[in-house]
Amino acid sequence: MIRRAWVNGTLFEQGEIAPISVMDRGLAYGDGLFETIRIESGRPVLLPLHLARLKASATVLGITCDTVTLEDAFIDFIAECGDAAAKIILTRGDSDRGYLPDPEAPSSLIFLLYPAMNWPAELACEGVVAAVCQQPLGISPMLAGHKHLNRLEQVLLRQELAGFAGAHEALVSDVDGHVVEGVFSNVFWIQHGIVYTPCLNRAGVRGVMRQFLLQEMSRLGLQLCEGNYTVTDVLAADEVFFCNSLYGIWPARQMAGVECQPGPITRRLQQCWSEMLGT
Ligand SMILES: Cc1ncc(COP(=O)(O)O)c(C=O)c1O
Repeated sequence: MIRRAWVNGTLFEQGEIAPISVMDRGLAYGDGLFETIRIESGRPVLLPLHLARLKASATVLGITCDTVTLEDAFIDFIAECGDAAAKIILTRGDSDRGYLPDPEAPSSLIFLLYPAMNWPAELACEGVVAAVCQQPLGISPMLAGHKHLNRLEQVLLRQELAGFAGAHEALVSDVDGHVVEGVFSNVFWIQHGIVYTPCLNRAGVRGVMRQFLLQEMSRLGLQLCEGNYTVTDVLAADEVFFCNSLYGIWPARQMAGVECQPGPITRRLQQCWSEMLGT
């Protein structure tokens, strides 16, 4: 249920219909980007990292994005919202039929405000059950890393995950058999004190939470390896956790039917996240 929406400068309260153009290229081609931001007691968590990713991806894709104006409008939009989840959607704007964009068309900016996710606390404390998806992600170097609006693969994978009874997340690999991420998360694992995560040059979303954790790992002096790994590598790990900017960190307590334990490095990183949230 959307609590509030904002479309190109016009605010719509809950129950009002917020119109978007039928010529919007976000609708026609997924030609745009989005951010999903946790709002904790009215404060947008990791906003600088979200805006940096949005701006960097918009620059690569050639979509106009004035993050200073955007930030001011967004801060006004979330005023007095308490705990919530917000989305920023930036599309290339309108065009006629056909892939070629109109270079003169202004981009389109949408903000949406949702209730807070309220995941059960046990998922972060005791851990989650993770499955392994069979459907592979395509290799897509032009789009890898960006949080673009083409999310059909995730729509299919989320349905596959829903078919695994009791599973909260699932490992997703690409067509070459390299683990990329979770269905709606990034993934890390630890073996013999070294932290591993997939490099995301050919598929996957370079998550803001992943970025935050990479900074924290470097601050803590943890050794990190980013590379190409398989599901077998992940299943051999001492600790596995998933992360995204809404729920933070979910340690795995079961991977592909095998019991495992949230470990000390995961717990230390969860502590960094709690400190960031001020909880
Ligand atoms: C496919 C996918 N990968 C990774 C992430 C993590 O991104 P972030 O940390 O920016 O929330 C998400 C978040 O929704 C996602 O959908």
